Amino acid sequence: SAPNACEAAGPVAHGSRCAGPGAAAGSAPMARHLRSLLDIDNNELERILSLADTVKKDPAAYRGKLAHKQVAMIFSKPSTRTRVSFDVGLTQLGAHALYLPAGGPTGLQVNRGETNHDTAKVLSRYVDAIVIRTFAQKQVDELADHGSIPVVNALTDRYHPCQALADAQTLRERFGKDRRLKLVFVGPGNNVTHSLMLLGPRAGMDVVCASPETLPPVASVLERAQADAAAAGTSVTVESDPVKAVTGADVIYTDTFVSMGQEDEAEELLKKLAAYQVTTELMSHAKEDAVLMHCLPAHRGEEITAEVLDGPQSIIFDQAENRLHAQKALMLLLMGAEPWS
Ligand code: CP
Ligand code: NVA
Repeated sequence: SAPNACEAAGPVAHGSRCAGPGAAAGSAPMARHLRSLLDIDNNELERILSLADTVKKDPAAYRGKLAHKQVAMIFSKPSTRTRVSFDVGLTQLGAHALYLPAGGPTGLQVNRGETNHDTAKVLSRYVDAIVIRTFAQKQVDELADHGSIPVVNALTDRYHPCQALADAQTLRERFGKDRRLKLVFVGPGNNVTHSLMLLGPRAGMDVVCASPETLPPVASVLERAQADAAAAGTSVTVESDPVKAVTGADVIYTDTFVSMGQEDEAEELLKKLAAYQVTTELMSHAKEDAVLMHCLPAHRGEEITAEVLDGPQSIIFDQAENRLHAQKALMLLLMGAEPWS
């Protein structure tokens, strides 16, 4: 599919970021967003991760830091981790999280044709930030362009940046900051793959995408990730042979073979990906102390065997827990309760 404006923009220099078309409008300070990891550079990632560690160690110190703030949480797809961790995290910080299902008989008007433009303008008059899980990345971008408050991507078909932040925190806890990691994503090119590909250059990590040639990552995202990697001195590559890809890996990462919204294509996807199941045999080609990651929800017997998912190399529940801490740090920064530097 076509690159969005951010992907096409070319590598960002440190300190700069991809601003939407509405960026120059008005004189009020521009809201910061997390539409994708393209919105943050290496230093900002470092800031989010170090604050996430502090928030995790001493949650009481941040109680009430977002007192009287309101956050609209729009969901067009199911969620366990994202919905609960945002709601709980925001409540712990003193904010009020409004859960707004986009669809169904009592959903938002945006599902009945109200424009993202009007929705963004109206919500900007009531609340202090928007968290949104939806299908089209364009919806996230439009809300950010037309509103005046931070917009956070809680998963689109294109990206899952909040997951990548928690993953980065989890990897630092496990390996420290200094080891240069090789992370291999085994599975289809999808939202989680794309965010990991953009995380690599920002976190000093080499990323390999082990996907079948028929299900590659989106070309514009790959190009952008490779340009960012070249600038950062890291690498982002695609390798269709899973054994070759995972050889020497520090991290093996997988995700469902059938993402939300792809239910009609399930049979075909499972067939194309059958050779990409993460098994004990596949894990044996990685480094001895390699870890297994999965964003969850998992499908034992499809993308991964139960033996690996529930085995000693798995750090899946640390990842899930860190969604809470990483997102609390993110919201403190985006909502101006903590300084970026
Ligand atoms: N990993 C993740 O985003 O999980 P949920 O779909 O349950 O939010
Ligand atoms: N790729 C998966 C991630 C779920 C957290 C999906 O989009 O369904």
